[in-house]
Amino acid sequence: LKVRIGNEIKEYTSIWWNENNELQMIDQRQLPFSFEVYTAKTIDDVCYAIKEMVVRGAPLIGITGAYGLVLHASNFSRDDRGAFDREMQQGFQKLIQTRPTAVDLFNIQARMIKLLNSDQSVKDLQNQFFNYANQIKDEIVAECRKIGEIGNELITKDHTKIMTICNAGALATVDIGTALAPIRKAHQENKKLVVYVPETRPRIQGGRLTAWELENEGIDHLIIADSAMGYCIKEGLIDLVITGADRIGFNGDTANKIGTYSLSLLCKENNIPFYVAAPASTFDLVSSGESFVIEFRNEIEIKTALSIIDSNDKKPVRRIIHNINSKSYNPAFDITPHKNISGFITPKGLITPPFEKKIKEFFGK
Ligand code: MRU
Repeated sequence: LKVRIGNEIKEYTSIWWNENNELQMIDQRQLPFSFEVYTAKTIDDVCYAIKEMVVRGAPLIGITGAYGLVLHASNFSRDDRGAFDREMQQGFQKLIQTRPTAVDLFNIQARMIKLLNSDQSVKDLQNQFFNYANQIKDEIVAECRKIGEIGNELITKDHTKIMTICNAGALATVDIGTALAPIRKAHQENKKLVVYVPETRPRIQGGRLTAWELENEGIDHLIIADSAMGYCIKEGLIDLVITGADRIGFNGDTANKIGTYSLSLLCKENNIPFYVAAPASTFDLVSSGESFVIEFRNEIEIKTALSIIDSNDKKPVRRIIHNINSKSYNPAFDITPHKNISGFITPKGLITPPFEKKIKEFFGK
């Protein structure tokens, strides 16, 4: 992930463990207006970071949660295995209550907490938690690279016009992203492309985060109003849509950022390929769309927007943009039925319909 600070470009990952045994992450709340780093020293700092969306994006929420357990384990200072297990179970419960939709959090927490099944000492387990979180993080990095390679094969034309939604880039994973991985790869191979970026109200992950990532990579892009998606697709301005996912059921039903369902309908109506890119941690092998839990967020997110006055202004302020006394309604995700999806770009390969058998075969363990 390239970050431009002044005239300098530095390489970052979205999250890292520092030499003082603290968890650090890029604070995504103020981007792209100001670049700040958030430091978590306790599991409560981590829960806050996930709930308040210091970090967001399904795989990154999962990885952050894993390090939440690492911090919780390393802050335990007694040699009492029973008490350690009770503390860790409480930590696990706190973490899985932070955000409900992205299944990566639950899948990764379930893997991490299984470490308690061994009869090792507290000290050994503290190391195990750390090593396992690092391993899971590295897995996701490798899977995103694979998604990049596989998705790049869909970008065949010259001057491909690709639409995405929300941010499924480095800021939603660790470095290159899911939906943005094929785009990065195609750009590295000098394929000509332009990315249409719906702003993604209300939190503007498209206009703030995806646009910032693409600018830093030197990839051509255009921010559009969410309400312009239909116009762009109907007018033939888009060749291909690639989105990320927060939860993919066993039959391919997919929860993703609010607006994704509308986008899938537009693609279906106009015969535009609609692909979903995701790592193994985003698959939920026991549910389909009807039982996904959709997060509702505070209505203030609808009625306000973060802004600066001009490019010299380094202090973004949240301002009211609607009739303040009106109530609002703020579902953060929607569900795209599997029948609207052309395929899944996964680290194990492209999955095309019918999905169920292949999803089980690839991710069934
Ligand atoms: O509310 P957010 O910003 O966490 O929602 C993120 C999305 O919907 C992404 O598209 C999804 O998590 C995939 S990220 C690789």
